[in-house]
Amino acid sequence: MTEPVAPPYDHGAGQSERAEHRWATAAIVILVLLVVLATFAAVHWAAMPQARVEIVDPLTLHLGGEFIESNLGSAIEPDGSVTVRVVGQQYSFTPSCILVPTDTPITFRATSSDVVHGFLIDGTNVNLMLVPGYVSSLRARFEEPGERLMPCHEFCSVGHEGMWGRVKIIDKAAFTRLAADQRRLNCVE
Ligand code: CUA
Repeated sequence: MTEPVAPPYDHGAGQSERAEHRWATAAIVILVLLVVLATFAAVHWAAMPQARVEIVDPLTLHLGGEFIESNLGSAIEPDGSVTVRVVGQQYSFTPSCILVPTDTPITFRATSSDVVHGFLIDGTNVNLMLVPGYVSSLRARFEEPGERLMPCHEFCSVGHEGMWGRVKIIDKAAFTRLAADQRRLNCVE
């Protein structure tokens, strides 16, 4: 008759300790991976916080200054670049169709007259938050002509899903011709 073999004294405790270590290691690996991904995305897409803060009174946007209605849209600057000024409000963008040229440095300057809105141009890395009281600005350049959607991507109350605009990218020469007649351009029909 053979003696029954006794299980090792720490059988259960040792096993659960090893499992705990494995999962602790897995959790740290996942955490490190997420930090690496976030860092890569920030550097690769140049998602940088703004270098400075510009403030603007959301209650008097329509009365004067940079964001008065007649100054909104696209404007050619003396150095040949284009500045696009946009205001977001519940539940639209002004102008609702933005006209920009190809192969030109473009600066977007935008703000909100009421609550926080999102400003995103589909298929590009143009992505801003429009915060009342602040001017959001971003530089971009479009190589290909075409039309892109510009949905609001911050929930801004009941009409949020209906808040979107369009961006029309046209040939630089055609844009320059249009700009000869109009001080501020847009493609609102
Ligand atoms: Cu504006 Cu959502």
